Amino acid sequence: MKLYVSVAARIRALIDESVLRPGDKVFSLRQASQKYNVSISTALKAYELLEADGLINSHPQSGYYVSPRKAASKRETPRREFNLSHAELVLSTLRSIREFGTIPLGSPFPDAHLFPVKAIHRYETTLNSDEAEWGVLNDLPPGNESLRQQIAKRYLKHGLDVSPRDIIITHGATEAINLCLQAVAKPGDTIALESPGYYALAHAVERMGMKVAEVRTHPTEGIELDALAALIQNVKVGALLLTTNFQNPLGALMPDAKKKALVDLLAQQQIPLIEDDVYQELYFGDEIPKLTKSYDQQGLVLHCASFSKSLAPGYRVGWTLAGKYRRDVEKLMFLNSVSIPSAPQIAIAKFMKRDSYEQHLKNLRHALKCNYVLMRKAIEDSFPQGTQISTPTGGYVVWLELPEAIDSLNLYQQCLEKGISIAPGPLFTRKKELINYIRLNFSHQWTPSIEQAVRDVGSLARKMLANQPS
Ligand SMILES: Cc1ncc(COP(=O)(O)O)c(C=O)c1O
Repeated sequence: MKLYVSVAARIRALIDESVLRPGDKVFSLRQASQKYNVSISTALKAYELLEADGLINSHPQSGYYVSPRKAASKRETPRREFNLSHAELVLSTLRSIREFGTIPLGSPFPDAHLFPVKAIHRYETTLNSDEAEWGVLNDLPPGNESLRQQIAKRYLKHGLDVSPRDIIITHGATEAINLCLQAVAKPGDTIALESPGYYALAHAVERMGMKVAEVRTHPTEGIELDALAALIQNVKVGALLLTTNFQNPLGALMPDAKKKALVDLLAQQQIPLIEDDVYQELYFGDEIPKLTKSYDQQGLVLHCASFSKSLAPGYRVGWTLAGKYRRDVEKLMFLNSVSIPSAPQIAIAKFMKRDSYEQHLKNLRHALKCNYVLMRKAIEDSFPQGTQISTPTGGYVVWLELPEAIDSLNLYQQCLEKGISIAPGPLFTRKKELINYIRLNFSHQWTPSIEQAVRDVGSLARKMLANQPS
């Protein structure tokens, strides 16, 4: 590589990785020549190259500055992702949504615009001196008391009488689930999971040296009880880990009678049920769905949830109501991370107490429901004939079964090249299945560019189908 090209590449990397940000002054030519051990004329050639690429601009008498970012015109052609391991594929999709300008249809996160970020932030920055000084002690596990009281109030809405003492605050639902798994099972145990299901659950199980047993999940009613019963009969199952309300990626909502039957089935064998319930508040209908916890007579249900999807995605505040495993989980929480920061817990508690959490949730559900209708219409208009679209009654993802000839990893790659991220089906199973499925996120503000992106994915899928040898 020519010397000036290599200097330009090193400065480009600093800009790409935001070490140097738009408006920042870049080294003078003299500094660059010393730093990279090149002549001033080589440094000048490197700067001319960066200028021609629109990455920096020169200000007379003042020097060179990083240019404002343009929409992803400088997108690098993404790596081909076909030979990645499952974990690498997960990371690749997450990385893809972070790339500047990408349309995040494959994102697992809700659109930040849906949340009262400023109001919560205000509470976070106005802690009183007691809160600031003593939070480190007061909010040790099980966590901030006022927040636990607010969460207990939410349980009351579900008809559940819960003591704040039984609630343990965690780093998002992810930590709650990890701790619950550790509390109820040990390395070598088999943990039953849904298929398709949220990929991080399988990774959590495997990371702890436990084995994953996938059980089919019905597209609208949740895990297949017959298949689960058959598994339990044949294998010693350490726990079941699942989502009954607006399952990710299907959007399935398990009917109440089935929730009760599930709890009863597991109780017969004393199998703990870890319910991952992060989407419960996002229902489109008139009533909040029931929790499996409502049917739990023996303390075998460990309910895990968070504010990540309903109020404050960036705050990483979750919790668990761990039934008869509460003490074990609390101990593990101490051992695992001592505690979580006080300020986000206090801010959320104050928001719930003083602001209209209920009104926020109403607005959130309404926005998500409207987006779903719009995205569904765009999908129906633009995807190939034969595409099956799930009918979520809550949450913010829709699951598509494309015609069999379409390889979603290939489609994922082609979409990335157009600056659109989608979540390909193989993410949601540890088997080599779900090749012709994708998941799309409809939480983002419905703009012409989001709509166009959905239509572009549909048209790429149609082209892939048309190009198949007959
Ligand atoms: C089913 C499910 N559970 C848990 C999580 C993660 O929750 P948290 O962000 O609170 O850790 C997600 C995030 O996408 C999810 O879809």
